[in-house]
Amino acid sequence: MSDAVPIPFDQFMEQALYGPEGFYMRVDGGSAGRRGDFLTSPEVGPLFGTVLATYLDSEWERLGHPDPFTVVDAGAGPGTLARSILAAAPACLDSMRYITVEVSEAQRERHPDGVESRSDLPDGPIEGVIIANELLDNLPFRLAVFDGAWREAFVDTNGERLSAPFEHVPAVLPGNAPHGARAPLTDRAADWIDRARSIVGRGSVVVIDYGVPRTSELALRPWRDWLRTYRGNERGDHYLHAPRTQDITTDLCFDQLPEADALRTQAQFLQLHGITDRVEEGRRHWEQHAARPDLEAMRMRSRISEAEALLDPDGLGGFLVAEYRSG
Ligand SMILES: C[S@@+](CC[C@H](N)C(=O)[O-])C[C@H]1O[C@@H](n2cnc3c(N)ncnc32)[C@H](O)[C@@H]1O
Repeated sequence: MSDAVPIPFDQFMEQALYGPEGFYMRVDGGSAGRRGDFLTSPEVGPLFGTVLATYLDSEWERLGHPDPFTVVDAGAGPGTLARSILAAAPACLDSMRYITVEVSEAQRERHPDGVESRSDLPDGPIEGVIIANELLDNLPFRLAVFDGAWREAFVDTNGERLSAPFEHVPAVLPGNAPHGARAPLTDRAADWIDRARSIVGRGSVVVIDYGVPRTSELALRPWRDWLRTYRGNERGDHYLHAPRTQDITTDLCFDQLPEADALRTQAQFLQLHGITDRVEEGRRHWEQHAARPDLEAMRMRSRISEAEALLDPDGLGGFLVAEYRSG
């Protein structure tokens, strides 16, 4: 994909996903959803957005009901989370300025009415919340490979090259590892969090993603487990194969990100913000309308199966939620 000069893995990934005709930039480019390339929590159904709407209300309360209360949905994809949050009609809705941020123009065109759709984060300071659901795993990362010592992976037309060992081995990498072990170096994700935090004058940044607390844990796992590709809702090929036609993503190592004020699993976060009550509400509504169910009754009943998926400790429920508060 690149010319003969080897480029670091993060530059290869940048071209493959976000360059001209990149996976996310094509008119028929990649996206979340049942008809897309991968399924995310907002795409499971509206329950995830309903619970996040409760979280937004708790932040709005904590901040003393600011107006405007700015919500930035970063890496918004086709806008499904925005739709669910707006449909949940939280108490803060009348004060809410909802901004969807998405680099792909094709996906921005799908964003709902009632939001400001942009390609980059707004200027600060804002009072409100920046949410990034499954954004950071998609930001280009560098790749370290163990070959008796840690080296950085480079890519050229002939495949992968290893550069000389790091002059300063990143401290998060374990001292020893099996030959061929790999680890992502997600400096861009860390920089993104710093930037998001600098925009929030009062409020919070919430990062939700798959990952592990420590890099050393990931480095000891087979790399195909965490350096994944997706296409058409199935796992794709080797990451160097047919670039631009498949998504490339990594589990995050949260020890490479700024230390959060709270780090929870997605299941813990959703429980803290009332998912159990929302499911009970759905169950009761269904029971009252089961004899003559309408669309709303079906939607309320589906909360039960949505919650199962969102709380599954081996799936979405095991994702990590890092919360950074200010003000
Ligand atoms: C895995 S998708 C997640 C979509 C959505 N948040 C969801 O949970 O369904 C990541 C999205 O982030 C977008 N993206 C990547 N880098 C971005 C950036 N720097 N700013 C805004 N969007 C970005 C991609 O185009 C893609 O649509």
